[in-house]
Amino acid sequence: MKASPSVTDLLGTIEIGQGNLASIGAFAQDRLGGRAKRAFLVSNRKVFGLYGQTVEASLQKAGFSTATGLIGDGERFKTLASAEKVLAAMAAARIERTDVVISLGGGVVGDLGGFAAAIYLRGIKHIQLPTTLLAMIDSSVGGKTGVNASFGKNTIGAFHPAAGVFADVDCLKTLPEREIVAGACEMVKHAAMSGKGLLKRTKACFSDRKSLFSGENLAALVRENIAFKAKIVDQDPFEDVKRTDGRSRKILNFGHTLAHALEKATNYRYFRHGEAVGYGILYAAELSKKLAICDKQDVELLYDVLHSVGVLPSLAGIEPQKVFETFQFDKKNISGSLQMILLRGIGRPEIISGDQISSKTIFSTLEAFLKLQK
Ligand code: NAD
Ligand code: GLY
Repeated sequence: MKASPSVTDLLGTIEIGQGNLASIGAFAQDRLGGRAKRAFLVSNRKVFGLYGQTVEASLQKAGFSTATGLIGDGERFKTLASAEKVLAAMAAARIERTDVVISLGGGVVGDLGGFAAAIYLRGIKHIQLPTTLLAMIDSSVGGKTGVNASFGKNTIGAFHPAAGVFADVDCLKTLPEREIVAGACEMVKHAAMSGKGLLKRTKACFSDRKSLFSGENLAALVRENIAFKAKIVDQDPFEDVKRTDGRSRKILNFGHTLAHALEKATNYRYFRHGEAVGYGILYAAELSKKLAICDKQDVELLYDVLHSVGVLPSLAGIEPQKVFETFQFDKKNISGSLQMILLRGIGRPEIISGDQISSKTIFSTLEAFLKLQK
C-alpha cells in the first residue's frame, strides 16, 4: 500500500531570504539529492528578463543543465493550452523523471508549472521560486497546482507539493505597487485567521512603505505567514470536504466568497485577486457583525489594517444582484449549500453553512457594503 505523503513531503523545505537569489542552484541540489541533471524553468518573459540570468547561472554552477518554457503574462494564460506548450517544450528538452521543474514567477507561473510537473511522465519534482508577495506567502505553499478552464477558475488541477520553496524578498523591489497591495491583503487574511499579534505586525510593516525593504521585517513577516499557512495545511492537507471546524484548510478561503464573485462579475479584468480578497475580508467581517458573533472593535481593526496596507480599486458600478447570484456557484459550497468563513473574533474563524444565515441577511449586508465602499 502506498503511504500517504508525510508532512515534510507536503510542505517541502522552505527558504526565505533577502539577497539570496544566486544560491538557488545549491538549494535545488540539496533538495534533489544530486539526482536531477536538468532543470526546466517555467516563467514569463517579464520575470525571466528580470531574474532568469541569475537563476540560470546559479543552477548551471550547481551542475544542472537548463532549459526554459515561457508562458504569456497574466491570468488568461493559466490554461491547458499553455500547459500543453510547456509540456511539449519539456519533452523537446528531454526532461526525464528524475529531473526538476522550477517555477520562476507569481502564482500564475507557480500554479501552471506545478501542474505541468504533476502530469509530465505522471509526475516529476517541482521547486517553487515565487517572485510576487502573494506567491511567496500563499500559492507556493501547500501543493495546490492547476489551470483555469472555460467552466471555472482553478477547476483543473492536482495536489502536487513542491520539493522546495525558495524565495528572495529583494525580488519584490521590482513588483508594481498594486501587486504589493494584493499580496498584503492576503497577509491580512492570514492575520485575521491567526490573531491580533500578526495583524499588528502586518500593519506596522506596510504602514512605513519607504522602509519596507530595509531590515528584516518583510522577510520575517513572509516567514510568519508561511508558518501559519503550513500549520493549517499540515493537519488538513487535501482540504477534507467534510470538515467544518475552525482549523479546516477551508479557512484559508476567508474573504474568497465575495472575492471570487467580484472577480467573476468584472470578467476577471478589473481586480487583482488579492484586492478582491481585501474587500471579501471586510464583507465577511460585516456579516459576522450582523450575526452578532463578532465584536464591532474587531471589525474596525480589520478596516484599519486593510486601509493601512494600501488603496483598493473602487466598487462603484458593481451590481449587488449580479454578485449575489455568483455566490451560489462558489467552489466551497457542499451539496448545493453555501459555506461561508466568518469570524467569532480575530484569530477565531468559523465555517457557517447556508442554513445558519438567511439569503436576506447575505443580500442586505452585501447591498449596504457595496454602497459604503463606493
Ligand atoms: P501573477 O502570477 O499574475 O503575477 C502578477 C504580475 O506580477 C504579473 O504580471 C507578473 O509577470 C508580475 N511579476 C511577478 N513577479 C514580479 C517581480 N518580481 N517583479 C515585477 N513583476 C513581477 O499573480 P499572483 O498574484 O502572483 O498570483 C495569482 C495566481 O495565484 C492566481 O492564478 C491564483 O489562482 C493563484 N493562487 C494559487 C494558490 C494556490 O494555493 N495554489 C493560492 C492563491 C492564489
Ligand atoms: N489558498 C488556499 C489554499 O491553499 O488552500
